[in-house]
Amino acid sequence: MTLDLAIIGGSGLYAFDGLEDIERHTVDTPFGPASGDVVTGRFKGRRVAFLARHGESHTVPPHRVNYRANLWALHALGARRVLAVNAVGGIRDDMGPRVLVVPDQIIDYTHGRYTSFNDVDGAEVRHIDFSEPYTDSLRQRVLAAARAEGLAIVDGGVHGVTQGPRLETRAEIARMKRDGCDLVGMTGMPEAALARELDLEFACLALVANFAAGAGDDAEISIDEIFAHLKAATAHVFPIVGRMLE
Ligand code: HPA
Repeated sequence: MTLDLAIIGGSGLYAFDGLEDIERHTVDTPFGPASGDVVTGRFKGRRVAFLARHGESHTVPPHRVNYRANLWALHALGARRVLAVNAVGGIRDDMGPRVLVVPDQIIDYTHGRYTSFNDVDGAEVRHIDFSEPYTDSLRQRVLAAARAEGLAIVDGGVHGVTQGPRLETRAEIARMKRDGCDLVGMTGMPEAALARELDLEFACLALVANFAAGAGDDAEISIDEIFAHLKAATAHVFPIVGRMLE
């Protein structure tokens, strides 16, 4: 069974609105349990899958997400194309709250996460090309779908991925800006690299929830505001996905 598209939902996105003929799958993976059941069903007449990265009640923090099990489970159910939805903080001036971005590059600042399916005793070492971490054809489909919905969306940006679960210090964000990061999240890696190891098409739809520490005018970042902005931005996700499936 193949699926037209799989969605990994991030903070604020825990279920697939408008899904029909729903089936739930608890997938047994060699890497342990995924963040929760994978839900499959029909949307716009196409077969799709959904997985909540942090669990359906948001109980799994970014550094404890079993990224390997999540990608494995989607692949095992027939996913070959994955759209990851990620809440992020904006670093670049034009990436304020509620902006939608399809990043094209990654800088990985995470540590202590399993970054490869081959990270088990005795497995052959495998190096993947990761010059372009996202699949451009899928990126273009997301951009075209958002524009067809009449939405503004930013094409490209460097997605810096931090360990979390805390937000960053101003100095960390200043350094990330010097490094060339345009936005910052906690869950973009190793997800993208694992998707590449499985030869999945993979793109990210980043929803800006706040200006990152020191990047805007705020002295502090309000978590309530983050979730309010995320709620507004998340409302665009399924209309975009619907257009992608047309
Ligand atoms: N930093 C890291 N991850 C985030 C942020 C942030 O400011 N906002 C939403 N996810």
